[in-house]
Amino acid sequence: MRIGVLTGGGDCPGLNAVIRAVVRKGAEVQGHEFVGYRDGWRGPLEDDRRPLGVPEVRGILPRGGTILGSSRTNPFAADGGPERIAANMEAAGVDGLIAIGGEDTLGATSRLHSEHGLDVVGVPKTIDNDLSATDYTFGFDTAVNIAMEAIDRLHTTADSHHRVLIVEVMGRNAGWIAVHAGLAGGANAILVPEREFDVDAVCELVGRRFASRFAPIIVVAEGARPRGGMPSEDDAKTDAFGHVRLGGVGHWLEGEIERRTGKETRATVLGHVQRGGTPTAFDRVLATRFGLHAIDAASEGRWGTMAALRGTDIKLVALTEATAELKTVPEELYAESEVFFG
Ligand code: F6P
Repeated sequence: MRIGVLTGGGDCPGLNAVIRAVVRKGAEVQGHEFVGYRDGWRGPLEDDRRPLGVPEVRGILPRGGTILGSSRTNPFAADGGPERIAANMEAAGVDGLIAIGGEDTLGATSRLHSEHGLDVVGVPKTIDNDLSATDYTFGFDTAVNIAMEAIDRLHTTADSHHRVLIVEVMGRNAGWIAVHAGLAGGANAILVPEREFDVDAVCELVGRRFASRFAPIIVVAEGARPRGGMPSEDDAKTDAFGHVRLGGVGHWLEGEIERRTGKETRATVLGHVQRGGTPTAFDRVLATRFGLHAIDAASEGRWGTMAALRGTDIKLVALTEATAELKTVPEELYAESEVFFG
């Protein structure tokens, strides 16, 4: 078979490990040929591709980013997008496609399969860990470790200067990174998109922490919002899937805490640092196993499926299941982190 591979959406440590596993097993064990599409769905849409063989995937296992490039191109937003993709694949002799992506890329992948009959297999990625069909996505563990290290470092400077330090982490709709990094780093408050926060209650925790002679660290997910909302975000930019570009709650909170408590407060926005660089061992292994199972699925013609982690096993699930529901932080886990607040 001739199989296309693409990576879409925000990049994520471990993407190259998936590509490597797909190509190494697919070419060396199963005798397939590969085509690397550039920049997510833009590649098949514009027939922008490059050869992808074993030599191209040598040495990429520890590399961050994606050798194929990525974009947030939505094939359904382009004129005749699905038809153009099908025609381009046919003309290039591509029998099927492995799409590695998050909620948006996999949502489009699922629709291209169910509505347009495209032969596709999905692989879930996102540092946000918010895909319901899989217990973990690769990239999450790396992001959590980066955020934890930042929190560790901020603790010492917060104590030295008797300041409130806020760390804003990624997490648009789910606070997985905030809760895991906050738990691992000993945060004194963790604010997540799943529940609106009360600024006065946060200030109360700040006071309690100072009373213990240490300075507070507050971890806030970029999608967390105070009760009553923040000043207008109406003019924020949106992407091809209609998502607002987030970032700003950390600095907003900085002003509010300083005004209400009189304590010097500073915010650090970790941003794309969380998505860059080399993946942890956990992410490399998970990404590799996803890749191996995805190429097996393609080989067996099990199109319309996605590799998912269930417990310690990799299972194939329907692509429709992958994006059916957002996986948010459960109440019980948040309650466990609350024990350490203040
Ligand atoms: O989906 C992963 C994510 O990291 C979100 O947490 C964040 O809102 C978004 O990507 C940012 O993406 P971009 O770099 O395209 O602005």
